[in-house]
Amino acid sequence: MRVLVIGSGAREHALLLALRRDPEVEALAVAPGNPGMAAIADQHDVDITSAEAVTELARRVGADLVVIGPEVPLVLGVADAVRAAGIACFGPSRDAARIEGSKAFAKEVMNAAGVPTAASEIVDNPAHLDAALDRFGPPAGEAAWVVKDDGLAAGKGVVVTADRDAARAHAAGLLDCGHPVLLESFLDGPEVSLFCVVDGETVVPLLAAQDFKRVADGDTGPNTGGMGAYAPLPWLPADVYARIVDEIVKPVAAEMVRRGSAFSGLLYAGLAITSRGPAVVEFNCRFGDPETQSVLPLLDSPLGQLLHAAATGRLAQFPELRWRDGAAVTVVVAAENYPGRPRVGDVIAGAEADGVLHAGTARRADGAIVSSGGRVLSVVGTGADLDAARAAAYSILSSIRLPGSHFRHDIGQTAAEGKIVVKR
Ligand code: GLY
Repeated sequence: MRVLVIGSGAREHALLLALRRDPEVEALAVAPGNPGMAAIADQHDVDITSAEAVTELARRVGADLVVIGPEVPLVLGVADAVRAAGIACFGPSRDAARIEGSKAFAKEVMNAAGVPTAASEIVDNPAHLDAALDRFGPPAGEAAWVVKDDGLAAGKGVVVTADRDAARAHAAGLLDCGHPVLLESFLDGPEVSLFCVVDGETVVPLLAAQDFKRVADGDTGPNTGGMGAYAPLPWLPADVYARIVDEIVKPVAAEMVRRGSAFSGLLYAGLAITSRGPAVVEFNCRFGDPETQSVLPLLDSPLGQLLHAAATGRLAQFPELRWRDGAAVTVVVAAENYPGRPRVGDVIAGAEADGVLHAGTARRADGAIVSSGGRVLSVVGTGADLDAARAAAYSILSSIRLPGSHFRHDIGQTAAEGKIVVKR
């Protein structure tokens, strides 16, 4: 099988590494890719938001399967075009990708499917903002306002704050740019990311993971695209995992079929485990970043065959997934000033070590690897348990040098210490 992966981040680097372990995968190509992938896949510099360019490339490399990593091409209908050319594609249609592309659409589907989620309201007129903020205010100062961009914002469009002025300023800024704002009630409880391979009503869940969205230790500072992740979740009871699949993901997949927007690809449920059970924070239409970097190293089943089965309507016949024992921890190395405008162009030492996945990197004319984005590297450690995986990740990190960079020191720490508790 020849596989073309679309994307250029550490998530796609992790996809390529897992695809390479599949004995049926004979060749890998990536567009546009990054310098860390050069030894694994042929790289092609095409515009991945262009349906024509991606389809033409898939034909040119003789792809038997195209795997689309990021949400933007999916929301733009690139998977539809690839499939229309007769090439199997792992990724939802433009119609189904609205589960991520429009938070209002996602709420409609969840409400119709009877799935627990935060109460919400869309504000598209600045004159209605203050009254709406008052309706969603935190009770007794305990919780927070959740203010989101009703569109794609790579995690950075979300502000969770107990400070009304900060909530108002963020919402007003989005409205000023012509973006409708989604106000939500805050869901209290530990967060879970559950990735499910879905084809119509067939749902195959992967290991649950947890990511870390705030920039600094102790969940402080602004939200980011993700500063780290670990899998599996030793604190997540098996019955809660089963409820997420049976009471949340399966009903949503069935509702999308009922609406004529059947989902085929990776349905990512972002959840909070509240005292009343799991509730949805958001759905995404693709693998999560950086959780993928922690989930896929633990997958023992052949990823290429799994994704091909989903892309060709044979997921229901795919054998039960096998997983490796142990845990994986991913720590993101971010450029100075991220999640603000990142400093770029610095030489990175240690970027070619095992366990180092590339995201915001480029190769300079003199051959040096330099930073070129906000989230620069994902450093992945695996081990017999979370402690061992943490130690492995931070040991690799200690040999990486990038001036001004920063990373979190506490990825997976509270879970390793047994301090995450599910309230019942
Ligand atoms: N881990 C957050 C995301 O992928 O959207």
